[in-house]
Amino acid sequence: MNSDYEKYKDLLVRLADVQYAATVLNWDQETYMPPKGATHRAQQISTLSGMAHELSTSAGLGEILEKLTLDLTLSEKEKRNVRQSLKNFKTSKKYSTAFVEKMSLCISEAFQAWQKAKAGNNFALYAPSLEKLVGLRREECELLGYTGHPYDALLDQYEPGALTADLTILFADVRSQLVDFVKGIAAMPQNEDAFLHKHYDKQKQWDFGIGLLKQMGYDFEAGRQDLSSHPFTTSFGPLDVRVTTRVSESNLEEMVWSCIHEGGHALYEQGLPASEYGLPSGEYISLGIHESQSRLWENNVGREFAYWKYNFPKLQAFFPESLKGQTAESFFKAINTVRPSLIRTGADELTYHFHILIRFEIEKALIEGSIEVKDLPAIWNDKYKEYLGIDVPTDSEGVLQDIHWSHGSFGYFPTYSLGSFYAAQFYSKALEQIPQLENEIEKGNLKPLHDWLKEKVYRHGKFYSAEELCIQISGEKLNFKYFMSYAQKKYNRLYKFQSETSSV
Ligand code: CO
Repeated sequence: MNSDYEKYKDLLVRLADVQYAATVLNWDQETYMPPKGATHRAQQISTLSGMAHELSTSAGLGEILEKLTLDLTLSEKEKRNVRQSLKNFKTSKKYSTAFVEKMSLCISEAFQAWQKAKAGNNFALYAPSLEKLVGLRREECELLGYTGHPYDALLDQYEPGALTADLTILFADVRSQLVDFVKGIAAMPQNEDAFLHKHYDKQKQWDFGIGLLKQMGYDFEAGRQDLSSHPFTTSFGPLDVRVTTRVSESNLEEMVWSCIHEGGHALYEQGLPASEYGLPSGEYISLGIHESQSRLWENNVGREFAYWKYNFPKLQAFFPESLKGQTAESFFKAINTVRPSLIRTGADELTYHFHILIRFEIEKALIEGSIEVKDLPAIWNDKYKEYLGIDVPTDSEGVLQDIHWSHGSFGYFPTYSLGSFYAAQFYSKALEQIPQLENEIEKGNLKPLHDWLKEKVYRHGKFYSAEELCIQISGEKLNFKYFMSYAQKKYNRLYKFQSETSSV
């Protein structure tokens, strides 16, 4: 037993304990905390975050990491853990207390200003604090350092190793291939989907959703589902991974696909090795890979015909009135309607990526300083016209719609698209490697897919980088062609429609 490595593990476990304790408080805040609890809760979370920062930058940890870096007796996994922890340690050390405090103050100002600006449809109320926030993030890029584009430094916090240059090429593919494909679909007669907005009893929806989670293999002995205003997944370690959903009586889709989406995130967290608690080898790889796990279930599985061939009769038994006269086929068509829209969170799985493309282009330009905050509404509206062909009636429904920038999150949005693209690439391999996968799904048997994901993704923790994992699974780096061929296959079938890009 290497005693230095054991000491290192102890330190990381203590750090994880403090971080997960803060996560429990956060979860409670979003689910059950009474309104008056907010003030002390903010203080409690802030105290724990401060303790976590002290532990993660302690001299003791630094010394032991430097020592272990030179230790040739470590296994490959141990070496990678040490390397990853040293990277985290060095990054944390770059932030002065003064900078962290300035940033957190600026974020709370910007968040309040954003709420007011959105409610009153008045971008000018938000512009000054957003400008300050962008300035601080630009400062942060210099602080952290980068070799290519300053935006790389921000991307790395969410998607380690991702480069602006690579994303620029990826989104150029999205633009050149997906824009025309979607225009072609939009010109086709639309499928009937109004019945999805009939009345659906809340309790029945809840019960149906729990059934979907069980079917996926979500372990209720190591998790639970609750309600929250925005669905999310949170983990206190792989043996306690919780999901939330929201249920709207007039929108069946909201509950169904938030259950499947968060369920996909949760399966990943529940599948991480519990024996590696607190260590990089026990953590998820990146937000893009995390999102690939939710979207693979949500879209590649949960919006396919095979899945509903099995589940639609069950759904219909829950809601015989509202689904009267519908079939698995008509349901499959309804849930795959493509319609350019204003709001990202309500977008279909194809036009969604234009929303992300727009945010990526704007963030990159803001961070490099080629555009200014005051011009954002006009830039935003021009891009919505160009990529989605729609006019933005108000800034509240336009540039003010997302919470992310007011939280200071720049570099986060691209991980959503990366998630879908990784999902398509991984799923194409699952279809090749799992015998009769679609037949099993048609029978309601999702275990072969869950087992495949455990084997290929979950159990490795952060041993591989996103790129390494992708090569390991599919033999090549992330390639947009997988998403396009998935989309073409599905929508050709739905619309019996051949686009010009079908040669891809
Ligand atoms: Co997600």
